Amino acid sequence: MEVLKIKGGLPLEGRVKAAGAKNAVTKLLVATLLSDKKCIFYNVPNIAEVEITIELCREIGSEIHWDREAGVIEAQTKELRTAYVPQRFSGSNRIPILMIGALLGRTQEDIIIPTAGGCKIGQRPIDFHISALEKLGAVIEYRMMKKEGAYFAHAHHGLNGAILHLPYPSVGATENAILAAARARGTTVIKNAAMEPEIVDLILFLQKMGVIIFVDVDRTIRIQETRHFNEVEHTVITDRIVAASLGMAAISTKGRVFVEGAQHVHMVTFLNKLHEIGAGFEVRSDGIEFFYKGPLKGGIHIETDVHPGFMTDWQQPFVVLLTQAHGNSIVHETVYENRFGYAHTLKLMGADVELFTQCLGGKECRFASRNFHHSLIVRGPTPLKGREIAIPDLRAGFAYVMAALLAPEESILGGLQYLDRGYENLVSKLTSLGADISRGHADPHSIPMAIASAS
Ligand code: EPZ
Repeated sequence: MEVLKIKGGLPLEGRVKAAGAKNAVTKLLVATLLSDKKCIFYNVPNIAEVEITIELCREIGSEIHWDREAGVIEAQTKELRTAYVPQRFSGSNRIPILMIGALLGRTQEDIIIPTAGGCKIGQRPIDFHISALEKLGAVIEYRMMKKEGAYFAHAHHGLNGAILHLPYPSVGATENAILAAARARGTTVIKNAAMEPEIVDLILFLQKMGVIIFVDVDRTIRIQETRHFNEVEHTVITDRIVAASLGMAAISTKGRVFVEGAQHVHMVTFLNKLHEIGAGFEVRSDGIEFFYKGPLKGGIHIETDVHPGFMTDWQQPFVVLLTQAHGNSIVHETVYENRFGYAHTLKLMGADVELFTQCLGGKECRFASRNFHHSLIVRGPTPLKGREIAIPDLRAGFAYVMAALLAPEESILGGLQYLDRGYENLVSKLTSLGADISRGHADPHSIPMAIASAS
C-alpha cells in the first residue's frame, strides 16, 4: 500500500506554483463536447481527476492530446462515437452526470451515464440536475443495467429553452443546465444559479466558443441557443483551493511561502478570515505571499457558503490552522451535511474539536434539526502528534497532511488516491518548501483506521 511519510515541525519556506483548478478544467473538457471544433487549454493541472475526465471524453469519441509537462490539452470531438459511458466509470467522479447536459443537444440517441461518484461528504443527490434537464425537454430514467443502475437520457425532438429555478445554487446543476441550454431552442434562464469562479470560467470559455450568455446581478444566467461554435484557446483559472491550502500550511508551520498564480479576486473571503486570526499575507501581481507574523488569534466564527461566501473546501485545512490559534472558534458547515468526517482523526492527533448537530453561529441552515454533525468548536492552541492515518476524502486529505506537517513525530498517511485526484506534485512541492515528506510503502494492516474510515 502506497503511503505518505511526513515528519513535521519544520517551517515551510520558499515559492511554489498553484496549478490550474480541478473544478474548472474538468467542466471545460465536458463543455468541448458541445461542438466539433478544436479547443486548447493552458494551465492544466497534472492530476488524476483530469486523467479520468479525459478517459471519459475519449470513450465517446474525443481526440485529446495532453502534454502533462507543459500543462496543455488539445481536445476535439469531431464526431460522437457513442453516447454510452460504460459502467466501469460508475462512482468515478462527478463528471459523467454533466455529460448529459453537454450531449443532449449533440445526439438524438440515448445517452447512458453511470451513477455519479465523488467524495463521500454527504448524500450529494442529483435531483436539481435532473429536474432542470427535464424542464428543458429531456427524458431521463434511472434503470438497472446488470448489477448497477445507470441514467438513460434523450431529447429525441431537441431541447427547448425554459425558465429554471434552482432550489439551491448548486455548482453542478448550474453547469449542467448551462451546457444543455447552449444547444436548446430559444433562450434559457437559470435563476438562483451558482456563481463560483469556476462557473464564471466556464461561461467565459463558452462565450469564446460563440455562446451568447448573460450574467445578471441576482444569480440569474441567460443562455441563447447556439448553432455555430468557434475554435477556442483558454487558460484555466488557478485552483483557489490549492492556493489557500498551501498558504494555510505555510502559516500554520510558522513559515513564509509565495504561492505563484494565487488569484486575489477569488480568495477575498478567505483572506479576510486570515486577517481576523492575525495571519500574514501580501497580495502581489503574480500571486500571494502567506506568512506567520506572530501568535494566531482564535475566537472567530466561520460559516461555509456558496460563492462569494467562505468555501466549504477551505474549511478542513482552516480547522487545522485554528488548532494553532489562541481561543475557541466556531465553524458552521452549511454546504454539505457530512463534511466533518475528518474531525475524529484530528482529535486522535491531539486537536481539541467538538462536533454539534445544531447550527452554531449566525444563521440556521438547511441542516438545522436534521441530526447531522455540521457545526464544530475548535479550541486552541494544541500541539499535534504524528499518527497513522487513513485519508477519507480529498480535502480531508490535505487537512491531514497539514496536521502531519505540524507534528514532530512521523505520520503515515494511507489513501493517497484521494490526494492524487486534486493536488499536483504535492510531495515535490512540499519538499521544495523544506518539508520532510516522502512517498513509500507500508503494510496496510499497519494503518488500522484505513479500513474503518475510508468506507
Ligand atoms: C462542486 O460539487 C465541487 N465539485 C465541490 O468540490 C465543491 O465542494 C462544491 O461544488 C461546492 O462548491 C466539483 O466541482 C467536481 P453542489 P457539486 O451541487 O457540484 C446539494 C472538491 O473537493 N445538491 O454545489 O457536486 C448537495 O448535496 C469537491 O473539489 C442537491 O441537494 O456541489 C450539496 O449539499 C468536493 N441536489 C449542495 O447542494 C442536487 O441536485 C451543493 O452541491 C445538487 C446538489
